[in-house]
Amino acid sequence: MTRPFQIAVLAGDGIGREVMPEGLRCLRAAAERFGLSLQLHEFDWAHCDHYLAHGQMMPADWKAQLSGMDAIYFGAVGWPETVPDHVSLWGSLLKFRREFDQYVNLRPVRLFEGVPCPLTGRRAGDIDYIVVRENTEGEYTALGGVMFEGTEREIVVQESVYSRHGAERLLRFAFELARSRPRRRLALATKSNGIAISMPWWDQRADAVARDFPEVALEKHHIDILAARFVLQPDRFDVVAATNLFGDILSDLGPATTGTIGLAPSANLNPERSFPSLFEPVHGSAPDIYGKGIANPIAMIWSGALMLDFLARGTGAGRAAHDAIVQAIETVLRDGPRTPDLGGNANTREVGAAIAAHLAG
Ligand code: NAI
Ligand code: MG
Repeated sequence: MTRPFQIAVLAGDGIGREVMPEGLRCLRAAAERFGLSLQLHEFDWAHCDHYLAHGQMMPADWKAQLSGMDAIYFGAVGWPETVPDHVSLWGSLLKFRREFDQYVNLRPVRLFEGVPCPLTGRRAGDIDYIVVRENTEGEYTALGGVMFEGTEREIVVQESVYSRHGAERLLRFAFELARSRPRRRLALATKSNGIAISMPWWDQRADAVARDFPEVALEKHHIDILAARFVLQPDRFDVVAATNLFGDILSDLGPATTGTIGLAPSANLNPERSFPSLFEPVHGSAPDIYGKGIANPIAMIWSGALMLDFLARGTGAGRAAHDAIVQAIETVLRDGPRTPDLGGNANTREVGAAIAAHLAG
């Protein structure tokens, strides 16, 4: 038996606390069926109650507490009624992404049978791609400032920063992912017609990396038409690579075309495994439905599947567990039970239990 995977569990705020138990239930069921050994460590911080009690989102030694972990399984953070969102988010999740160098943000986008699609005429199978977003640099920097504030001369500057190191490692990851999938297509989000210095450079980085991946078909799309094609021709996409800002927008638009936000999972990866990677639903803490027990747990459960696949490097029992979880989700979306966001009247626990039951076989 190999060493068990060490997993930090942080439920966070709001419905994070309601969907996490269902995520864990399905993780345990999958681990048991496929003989994966998991050690789950629950931490009671990185939520707004901790901030109210201690004046900070996390203890000072948070990094040491998490450093022996292989992965972080995260619910959602934020409770704007008591703690401003920039405080809760920058005090927890964004610290993980930056300090653990989780430079790949991965968001699978898939249309399932049984889920109403906001695009007309689309059926399950028509939409099935992955957005690979750069997660550490690009347009999101702290470089800049305001001058002559409050006067007629007021100006503001905020720099975008793209490094060869940062761009190429992200692109390499995206090409490798595309190569591992049957269609072997990579769409690159760019804007080299308008942002005439950094975006032609970004295109060139992609061309340079592409030389190592002759079996992958690379297509460049300006971000404006790419957004339109996500709506009009979603079936043409397989893997989509983008800088931080473009990827942020695409990775909300994509899942929006496939139904409810309660389904969308994500992974924040440090592919070299120098630090733990983080797996979380795309949605937040949903204060408007918290406490009713009706949150859809599927995004949390699917994120757990991504975690097992990553931990096992896409092979063996981890890949099998991933595939079985996604299949169980497929079955439950088709046959029910369903939470109210999908038109059903089941609660969070009933959906989690149904998926776990399919996993148990
Ligand atoms: P949200 O994702 O929490 O909710 C948006 C809407 O979707 C709400 O109407 C909510 O009820 C619904 N929804 C979300 N998840 C659902 C689920 N699993 N099942 C059924 N319905 C679901 O976004 P919102 O309202 O903008 O933010 C609420 C809080 O969450 C804020 O504090 C925000 O900063 C935080 N947030 C945290 C994120 C994270 O931890 N990664 C991501 C997004 C928001
Ligand atoms: Mg976003």
